[in-house]
Amino acid sequence: MLRVTIHTDGACKGNPGDAGVGVVIKDETGTIIREIAEYIGKTTNNEAEYIALLVGLREAVLLEASEVLVKTDSELMARQLNGQYQVKSPKLINLYQEAVEVLRGFKKARILHVMREENSRADALANEGVKKKNKPKPPATAKEPKPATTPKLIEPKPREEAVIAETPKPVVKEQVAPTVSVITETPTFPTARLSSPAGSELILVNGDCIAGMRSLIDDGSIDVVVTSPPYNLGISYSEYDDTSSREEYLQWMDEWAIEVKRVLDAKGSFFLNVGSKPTDPYVPFDLLGVMRKHFALQNTIYWVKSIAILKSEVGDYPGIISDVVVGHYKPINSKRFVNDCAEFIFHFTHNNDVELDRKAIGVPYQDKTNIKRWGSGESAVHCRGNTWFIPYDTINSSEKDRPHPASFPIDLPRRCIRLHGKEKTGRVLDPFLGIGTSALACAELGIDFMGFEMAEDYFAISEDRVKTACKPIPTLDL
Ligand SMILES: C[S@@+](CC[C@H](N)C(=O)[O-])C[C@H]1O[C@@H](n2cnc3c(N)ncnc32)[C@H](O)[C@@H]1O
Repeated sequence: MLRVTIHTDGACKGNPGDAGVGVVIKDETGTIIREIAEYIGKTTNNEAEYIALLVGLREAVLLEASEVLVKTDSELMARQLNGQYQVKSPKLINLYQEAVEVLRGFKKARILHVMREENSRADALANEGVKKKNKPKPPATAKEPKPATTPKLIEPKPREEAVIAETPKPVVKEQVAPTVSVITETPTFPTARLSSPAGSELILVNGDCIAGMRSLIDDGSIDVVVTSPPYNLGISYSEYDDTSSREEYLQWMDEWAIEVKRVLDAKGSFFLNVGSKPTDPYVPFDLLGVMRKHFALQNTIYWVKSIAILKSEVGDYPGIISDVVVGHYKPINSKRFVNDCAEFIFHFTHNNDVELDRKAIGVPYQDKTNIKRWGSGESAVHCRGNTWFIPYDTINSSEKDRPHPASFPIDLPRRCIRLHGKEKTGRVLDPFLGIGTSALACAELGIDFMGFEMAEDYFAISEDRVKTACKPIPTLDL
């Protein structure tokens, strides 16, 4: 199985004008295995980008690559192929359709928008291509593939898994050709609709969250997103493979973050729980790099899973009469690393301007005289701050009681929603539902909810858990 990274770029002298394409193909070790610079005649900039992509894909097919990661600095093309933008230009539709068709022939295909600097070699080759005008080669356009070298472009390999086809959205509005019909279908997902005891609607969806958000959730219709995605730490989920490269992982994070941004209300809150492990401490920070492109980081909350407060260190403090060592302590055997007892909950908003209900999850004043001093009137609580001690629920038999390797305690989503403000929260979303913990919090709070889970077994468990929570409490006839 050959995985390749293809850098593509198109260059034009004028728009339209004499155009060239540049392609660099690297193998899994990052070694360059092909470089192409071709003159392609007179085209527009966008056509040149697509033709560069097709030339790169043609080469990947000839190399018998099964997985391709395409890097392009054309944001338009990347977004069109990822289903975020529609293809309206009649000039691009054929090229787009052929690209989709070829991409579907790979086992896995991803399109990544990168900065121009990261694509500099392809850019240089594209400019070289423009200069080859005087010795032109036949253009490798979508409509005129070279029969001798592009047989598989016409007969793509059967599709096993293609990201493009997994994230369907009606992207082509004009001149829809039968070859792309698969990506114009609206996906259907197994869905459970439940009603909480307070009458709120809980919708659990078994399917990919990106495709699901695109087809099921309207712009700005979600008040709170609370979620914990896979952390890319090699956790053993039933279906999801948590071992992709960091680059692929972050690209995928970027894709679903774009959808979250779209569906989140202008005054909504997005709580993102993420942790790391001592041997791979960067995940939360790498993720922040992705999220800061789309959101403002309004608060950083530390989810403390276990803590030790020693009486000798606290001194004379009301209520602390002995050492307090509480929470879930996961022993590790290491001479280098201390135990990892906390995770992050990043609170993102669109513009850093969302008012919170801090007292809703407030903590009591220790010194009651402070109530007056801090001007909080009748209220006996103050803001909890950003260190949240939330232990895991105590369990007896891990297989039965913790059927998921990375679920969070119900108090986590509960607190996030209450901090945002229960009264102003109409609908909550969790794109990574797992076994339904955030749905349970919404059932309890009486708030509408939608969640996505790709794995059938976790989805079934979440449905069971939520159904149980939604059962009316039996009353006794006395
Ligand atoms: C960290 S877990 C979430 C656990 C959840 N917070 C709970 O308490 O049960 C991440 C979940 O995302 C699911 N997942 C991975 N990729 C997905 C996708 N593309 N769409 C929907 N769910 C996905 C995994 O199967 C896994 O159950």
